[in-house]
Amino acid sequence: MKRYSSSSSSNSRPVSVLCVLALLLAIVAAHSHVTDQSSEIIDHIISKNYLKFARHVDELKSSGEFEQMFDSSSSDGSIDVQLVDGHLPGYDCQHDNIMQTRKIVKPKDNKDMLPRKHYDRLNKQHDDELVQETNANVGPIRINFDTTFLHSKKDPMGCYSTGQKVTFGNGGRGINCSLASEPNCIYTCQANEIFTDALGNLIEQVILPTIRDVFSAFLSVNRVDGNLVLTDTYADRECDNNYRIPDYYFEKGIANTDIVMFITARPTFSSATIATALACSFPIYNNNFFGRPYAAGINFNPYYFKPLLNNPNQFLFKEYIRVGLHEATHALGFSRIFYDSFLNPSTGQKYGYSPSYSFTDSAPTPSGPVSVTRSGIRTPNVVNFVREHYDCASLQHQLLEDAGGQGTAGSHWEKRTVGEEYMLGYVQPVFPITGLTLALLADSGWYAINNTYVEPLMWGRKLGCSWFAGCTATSWSATGYFANSIKDSCTPTRVGKGTVRVYSYDKDLAPEYRHFDNATIGGADYAADYCPYSDVTPNFRQNAYCVDEANQRIASKSIGEYYGSDSRCFEYTSLGSSSQACWKYQCTADKKLQILVKSTWVTCLPGSSPTVDGIAVQCPKNFYICDFNVIPIPGLGNLTMPVDSASSVSSSATLILLSLLSLFSLFILI
Ligand SMILES: *[C@@H]1O[C@H](CO)[C@@H](O)[C@H](O)[C@H]1NC(C)=O
Ligand SMILES: *[C@@H]1O[C@H](CO)[C@@H](O)[C@H](O)[C@H]1NC(C)=O
Ligand SMILES: *[C@@H]1O[C@H](CO)[C@@H](O)[C@H](O)[C@H]1NC(C)=O
Ligand SMILES: *[C@@H]1O[C@H](CO)[C@@H](O)[C@H](O)[C@H]1NC(C)=O
Ligand SMILES: [Zn+2]
Repeated sequence: MKRYSSSSSSNSRPVSVLCVLALLLAIVAAHSHVTDQSSEIIDHIISKNYLKFARHVDELKSSGEFEQMFDSSSSDGSIDVQLVDGHLPGYDCQHDNIMQTRKIVKPKDNKDMLPRKHYDRLNKQHDDELVQETNANVGPIRINFDTTFLHSKKDPMGCYSTGQKVTFGNGGRGINCSLASEPNCIYTCQANEIFTDALGNLIEQVILPTIRDVFSAFLSVNRVDGNLVLTDTYADRECDNNYRIPDYYFEKGIANTDIVMFITARPTFSSATIATALACSFPIYNNNFFGRPYAAGINFNPYYFKPLLNNPNQFLFKEYIRVGLHEATHALGFSRIFYDSFLNPSTGQKYGYSPSYSFTDSAPTPSGPVSVTRSGIRTPNVVNFVREHYDCASLQHQLLEDAGGQGTAGSHWEKRTVGEEYMLGYVQPVFPITGLTLALLADSGWYAINNTYVEPLMWGRKLGCSWFAGCTATSWSATGYFANSIKDSCTPTRVGKGTVRVYSYDKDLAPEYRHFDNATIGGADYAADYCPYSDVTPNFRQNAYCVDEANQRIASKSIGEYYGSDSRCFEYTSLGSSSQACWKYQCTADKKLQILVKSTWVTCLPGSSPTVDGIAVQCPKNFYICDFNVIPIPGLGNLTMPVDSASSVSSSATLILLSLLSLFSLFILI
């Protein structure tokens, strides 16, 4: 197999992270010249856990205990997972499809369900009834993982032997079970999906603690006072299909917990689904107004997680962890079912408007503007973030992804405007946890954010209102964003050498997706509204992630290339021809970009072209890696937090997989 040029998400933290809270803006100035090394705080947490895992595997191997502890070969033989050269394939998050079909069952009698305090308040029938109480017991979120179902090996939907028949979801009522072998979503377990103790140990001892460490680093909640007791009147008390929550959660409850996550490792009805997570217990007030999630289910598809056991690999590990963080973030509240239940953190009350909304947008096309219905998030910290990030003071929202369900508010950011972030619906190797998603979590009113852990969003940074409005050759003229035909280029965020892929489709694109005179021509990525941009495609032309140190093997010595977390892609010309190179960069104290070309550090002022040994570097004009500022989100101590103790849920579990938009097939690359 050819080498994979893609990196882990890991190495992608371009700039440093600034330690600053909203109340301490002054600190920004003091820290704003930063270099790469302090930028990987989340990665450090992940790496620490990876190293523990790798050491543990080594010890077990040398003591001969590996087989029994981790090796899954006893039940599997070889593991044949279709990773793309050792990395996760891009995948479509199924969260929205699954949520679409979950009917929230409102308890018959709220009075019995809500803690007394709520009941008294809710009874008043005024809009300000849900006023939060200030200065509660705020602290880092305590996530408790319940893995008993995992280890019991009695999950009716888990695979314990090859050839065993299991049911997907709710047994096929409305689901497109294209993977199933028999009607009603009956599926035959394959060898590489068998749950083993080794897989259970990996999930329980490594994956889950890492997810917990990362969230407790940047998320705080108003902690549950005393035991977390779930009060659920839903008859089956299920968290996911066939996952019955043990009775003691509804009786005595559990101590030191702000949210409990029930873990399973079942095959999923979409082969590309690596993990899924759903909130399954949260207070339900009148008018379908919900409180913060207190319980969630997370499923890890064994098919994807087993390769990690056979081949511990740090990059792959980081990708998996970030997929887990993505899914868990849905469960914490980044889900369309929760938007209308968000509480304004600065008042502690309901927003006076719907936090997510649909509106008529105007898409620029070669034949003039076209009206299109879009949806977006318009809460204060999100709006503040987008105005500063894109340098466009008139922005009213951040867009939500429309691919896969037009006009409906989904649970992912729009790929065209957000590009590279961990809450996109299509996961790729570089997916930072940025201030945008943290702003949304803050705007739920349920969480306080420690901004120390913000990873920079580089996509679209400071490119202005017209860039945000839509892609045209002019508005998207910055490096990496637009080309009329297939073209090699640094990617927009310069994490890699990529290619702008422009396709000719077999029919006209929808009017709002036309960016060329010829209506059949469009960019390769429908999630990005067919806007052409440069991305890194494995095994394609010279594509490679600069941030993946494993690529050092292909570094060109003649131009002094370097691959690693502090490398970025730059265009250059030499001997009359133009190309891209991965070079190490650093930032000076006065925020100037410097690049190490061969063994010379050159200062790269925007638009200049310093020359080293006949290599003329084209210094980027719109690349703000050296003056990244954390966009403040009110942090700890400046939030009113809800004081709900755990309350009820309702989860019904009718899964109907929406049929995805039928996509155009493509036939030529132009
Ligand atoms: C079910 O999904 C498969 C694969 O995505 C697709 O080819 C098929 O047309 C779908 N069937 C229906 C009835 O939607
Ligand atoms: C935020 O996290 C940093 C790094 O762990 C820590 O030093 C700081 O005290 C935290 N801030 C607050 C307000 O807890
Ligand atoms: C659009 O482009 C396709 C593919 O290059 C070509 O076959 C077709 O004739 C073009 N249509 C027009 C109207 O130019
Ligand atoms: C909290 O932040 C808001 C801005 O988001 C600010 O107006 C307010 O003064 C802050 N509260 C405190 C106590 O500083
Ligand atoms: Zn998702």
